[in-house]
Amino acid sequence: MNLATVLFLLFVSVQSKLHIFDAKVTQIPAQKGTRIYFPTNGDEASLKLITVKAEKSQIDTNIFAFSVPRADGSLNPLVVTADDDTVVVTRPDGDTTPVTLFQDRVTENLNVFPVFENSALQFKAGKNVYLAVDKPNGKILTIQNLKVDRQKDGYLRAYSGVPGDLIPEPYLFFTSDIYTDITFYQQLDIPIYEFSLDPVFDGVSYTVGFGYLTKTLQSSGLIMSPGFPITQQPSDMSFNVNRKGNEDISLHMNTYFYRSLSYNTEITVRFGFGVENVQSFPSGLNGRLGASGKINSVEVSSIGAYALQYWTNSTATNSEGSTIPTGQGTTPSIITTTKSSYFMSNSLSILTVIVSLLIGC
Ligand SMILES: *[C@@H]1O[C@H](CO)[C@@H](O)[C@H](O)[C@H]1NC(C)=O
Repeated sequence: MNLATVLFLLFVSVQSKLHIFDAKVTQIPAQKGTRIYFPTNGDEASLKLITVKAEKSQIDTNIFAFSVPRADGSLNPLVVTADDDTVVVTRPDGDTTPVTLFQDRVTENLNVFPVFENSALQFKAGKNVYLAVDKPNGKILTIQNLKVDRQKDGYLRAYSGVPGDLIPEPYLFFTSDIYTDITFYQQLDIPIYEFSLDPVFDGVSYTVGFGYLTKTLQSSGLIMSPGFPITQQPSDMSFNVNRKGNEDISLHMNTYFYRSLSYNTEITVRFGFGVENVQSFPSGLNGRLGASGKINSVEVSSIGAYALQYWTNSTATNSEGSTIPTGQGTTPSIITTTKSSYFMSNSLSILTVIVSLLIGC
């Protein structure tokens, strides 16, 4: 790491940061315009006993008011008004209320949302950060009923982590631009504790909250290994695919892996009549999979982290709101337009699997 990189990292680290707040006294150097957010599910009495002071900005209060979301679910930040100030947050002795401090000075149109067990957070324009403050049993963070109106230039990109946070730095796990014809996703599984969405303005709607892990692939969505991207653990997950009667369907997947580590992820597509096709995806490449035939299930087996953005044209899963375009009966252009370093097609009378692996992105 050279000096310029070190300086850059230092610069970034003071601009925007997530603190796990467990010390009795936390001191945060701050400049005019620094915003500090306090996502927490602590109770009012405890939060009123946690003081926050900044001498030059003449702040002397407690964090309760900053922990109560506005009507849209986002938090009001504490705003520092003087340069070279120090914000001092103090807990009473023995207090263990879980509080996260999220600090930022540079991100424009930033909205910070604590996600509670019963949250149903709607789209808000801006750069949005979501932090799970509850951990409901058996449930994970999700984005549900995502609609992207391309005619209004709508798009959505989602990252593990928050802006400016150093380790892990925000890591892309979803982009609606990949499949330009797909404008509705039933559910993105996000089994991590904080994620952020790029600034989006018109033409996007969704609900963020807790939900259950995907077991059956819907018409469009995202599946993800827990703790993506840095948590590396062996996993073997199987997903049913809804299919009406004996129809042929196609399945498309775009893969996201943790590039800094080298591992393989096997995706097995199981067809009727006991036929299966296994493809291996190295973490260093952006792979895409396209399969069609009488697909019954998909199995993902990996020793590392993965996120898989998918869509199918099954008529069984195209429920309300779905906008799978008509006439998508042939190999989607996404496969033929990509630059592939590796191409494989396995064609039997009942199935086709096409894999393309892209270098870089
Ligand atoms: C889905 O696409 C495949 C492959 O292009 C096609 O063979 C199949 O008929 C389509 N299925 C439906 C239900 O539209």
